[in-house]
Amino acid sequence: MSRSQNRVAILHGVNFDVLERRDPELYGGVSLGELEHRITGWAAELELEPSFFQTNSEAEFCGYLHRLSEGADGALINAGAWTHYSRAIADAFAVDPIPAIEIHLSDVENREDWRKVSVFDGLVAAKVTGKGIDGYREALELMTKQLGISGD
Ligand code: DQA
Repeated sequence: MSRSQNRVAILHGVNFDVLERRDPELYGGVSLGELEHRITGWAAELELEPSFFQTNSEAEFCGYLHRLSEGADGALINAGAWTHYSRAIADAFAVDPIPAIEIHLSDVENREDWRKVSVFDGLVAAKVTGKGIDGYREALELMTKQLGISGD
C-alpha cells in the first residue's frame, strides 16, 4: 500500500562508515550496510519507505538537513559525536525541520559526561539510546506514531 506520509530518512554522521571496525561492545560489530539492511526490513513491515544517508563531512550533513523535507516526512538521526557539540548541525536541522527521532546504539546517558549533552534536545520528538540495533526498530515504530500512520 502506498502512503503519502511514510518516507523516513535515516541519517548517520561521522564514523558510521567504519561501524564494523568500532568497539563491538558498544556498537555491535555490524557494518552500516548490515544495519541499513535490518532497518529496511523493519521499515517494510511498518509500511515505511526508508532512505539512507551517511557522511563524515559536517558541511555535507548540514547541507542535507537544509533540504530534509524534500525527500522525507520524518527522520531518524544518529549524528555520532557531532550530537554532543555541533551547534551548526542543530541550526541546520532547524532550517527545514520535520518530525525526528534521535537515536544512538550505545547508552550515551551512562558513558562519559560529554556524551550526555545533545544539541538535538528540544528539537526532536523522542530519543532512543542504548538498545543497539533493535533501537532502530523501536525508533521506526515511534516514527509511525509521529507520522500518524500507526495501527494503534
Ligand atoms: C553514537 C554515540 C556517540 O557518542 C558516538 O560518538 C558515536 C556513536 C551511538 O550510536 O552510540 O559515534 O552515536
